Amino acid sequence: MEKTFKRTLITTALPYANGPVHIGHLAGVYVPADIYARFLRLRGEDVVMVGGSDEHGVPITLRARKEGITPQEVVDRYHKIIKDSLEELGVSFDIYSRTTSELHHKTASEFFRHLYDKGEFTVQTALQPYDEKTQEFLADRYVTGTCPRCGNENAYGDQCEACGSSLNVTDLINPRSALTGEPVKMRETTHWYLPLDKWEEKLRHWILDGHKEWKTNVYGQCKSWLDAGLQPRAVSRDLKWGVPVPVEGAEGKVLYVWFDAPIGYISNTKELLPDTWERYWKDPETKIINFIGKDNIVFHCIVFPAMLMAYGDNFQLPENVPANEFLNLEGDKISTSRNWAVWLHEYLKDFPGKQDVLRYVLTANAPETKDNDFTWSDFQARNNNELVAILGNFVNRAIVLTHKYFGGVVPATTEAADVDRLLWEEIDRLKKAEEEAIATFHFREALKIAMDMARAGNKYLQETEPWKLAKTDMARTATVLNNALQVCANLAVAFEPFLPFTSAKLVKMLGGEKLTWDMLGCADLIPAGSKIAEAELLFDKIEDDQIEAQLKRLADTKKANEIAAWKAAPQAEDVDFDTFVKSDLRVGTVLECEKVPKADKLLRFLIDDGLEKRTIVSGIAKYYKPEELVGKQVCFIANLPPRKLKGIVSQGMILSAENSDGSIVLLTPSAPVAPGAKIG
Ligand code: 2FM
Ligand code: ZN
Repeated sequence: MEKTFKRTLITTALPYANGPVHIGHLAGVYVPADIYARFLRLRGEDVVMVGGSDEHGVPITLRARKEGITPQEVVDRYHKIIKDSLEELGVSFDIYSRTTSELHHKTASEFFRHLYDKGEFTVQTALQPYDEKTQEFLADRYVTGTCPRCGNENAYGDQCEACGSSLNVTDLINPRSALTGEPVKMRETTHWYLPLDKWEEKLRHWILDGHKEWKTNVYGQCKSWLDAGLQPRAVSRDLKWGVPVPVEGAEGKVLYVWFDAPIGYISNTKELLPDTWERYWKDPETKIINFIGKDNIVFHCIVFPAMLMAYGDNFQLPENVPANEFLNLEGDKISTSRNWAVWLHEYLKDFPGKQDVLRYVLTANAPETKDNDFTWSDFQARNNNELVAILGNFVNRAIVLTHKYFGGVVPATTEAADVDRLLWEEIDRLKKAEEEAIATFHFREALKIAMDMARAGNKYLQETEPWKLAKTDMARTATVLNNALQVCANLAVAFEPFLPFTSAKLVKMLGGEKLTWDMLGCADLIPAGSKIAEAELLFDKIEDDQIEAQLKRLADTKKANEIAAWKAAPQAEDVDFDTFVKSDLRVGTVLECEKVPKADKLLRFLIDDGLEKRTIVSGIAKYYKPEELVGKQVCFIANLPPRKLKGIVSQGMILSAENSDGSIVLLTPSAPVAPGAKIG
């Protein structure tokens, strides 16, 4: 039997306050969480939704460094932008706080200290890269150097993006600090580790046996982590910005941001409900739901639950973690650093009063089971063809006709006809389907069902034709319009979780009151004889020029990124002509091409170079399918010394160009040439 709960605590991933929030955050986390919270509130349930900004961690310090301001200035700026814009979008947090608050520092610090005192940590000393100029330890990602496998001079301390190898900082040749360009030194440092292996069996049982109903993407990720075996994880860092480690001798160390951020959920609940917060965290009759994006799954399903288990004291684990996949923008990955995003605060300025349009489009196209794409043309089409043409049109017709034939007074019904009974049977069916879909986190489906209710209303008007009836039968016209208005009131309920502004406007027009989910399916929500307001359009058409302006902004961003990429990798030093002409550049025809086993990014080419067959290994597997390259002509350097990649001897290098987003395009002659043709 399905478990019942007394109350629900909804948590939403805390966005880093190193930039504003964008449509990816909204579609992944805040809109679905808000739909769920609003639905539970409509059902009269005890629900609390907490959120806040994640204000610690390296992303904040990097932003501050880039702008020459303090981390505090960075988070003050973005916390305000994020908080205000989410509020304006109607995301109904009961609290939206921040992890730099005093209460959070105290809560996170005490949490750590409790685990420390219980002996839940182990201590490990390891060598870490250190920048002597800034006198700080560096995260692996902030060390660059030459890849020992392919010679790429800009490989990162954790990975070489050119050949796809996973690296350790100690593998890099000439490792340098990405902050200052200085050579890095390895220094010993000590950290506290949470032995996740200790909790592995419990986690396995809790998730793999106990939560088979979780979304397959979430369950699958957890299973692969657990099957691979858990390792101890460091929960402290050498950094100046964060919650200081509350242990003597730990100066210069702070809690790892992923240790303190989820504790933020607890601090926020405490801040909201100083006297009763424990009810939401420690009572098994509370259902905790974590809304997050897919990159946060391991922290919410493995690390934070292990922290809570280690803490004890009856802390409850989440009942569900309905993580979403990613939303792309016009075919490209959304990126804060590349400014490839639709920023919420900008959208609100560009489309005033159209919060619900964005909420609608992001839900209709939510990345619930796979990555999805946001395009401005889809945004326009969904507004014009669905919100305006189906929902807005139905409501408008019902209200305008009531004014036309009954002076804006809700007419009384007489006898019901079959078509009326069928309408209410359909609404009742849709109500149950919508309820089931929201309760199981299928919000796209639920929204479609709500729209089907408006479709049912349109169909009813089409079938009954009150504009014709009014010529002969006012009693029947009255019944039909009464039904149509009751459907409008039902729509206000059905859409409230998704389109709260529209729903409020509709309630006002119909002279209604507070909505509850129970009203859905009722044919007598607006009393006969009551007066309704003049029709006001719920939605209006979005014109092409508005969409073109947005597309132009994105095109400008792309251009700016290309210029920035050129500046970031400025023209290399001059080489003298004689040196350059020593490079033997040629065209070859691809005879065979296949993936290199156990190397995600590598392809093995067999090339007809005019003389013989030559093997070259190239790191472009992410961008090309091997079978589509066979028969193509490529350009390559023929006189490089052979080198071994994943055990294969590569005799040369295939030439390609890299876009500012890191995607790679092969260079190829503009017309076929004989294999071996020289390039010059
Ligand atoms: O991935 C992120 O943007 C993190 N700031 C999410 C933190 S969620 C939670 F644990 F606070
Ligand atoms: Zn490499």
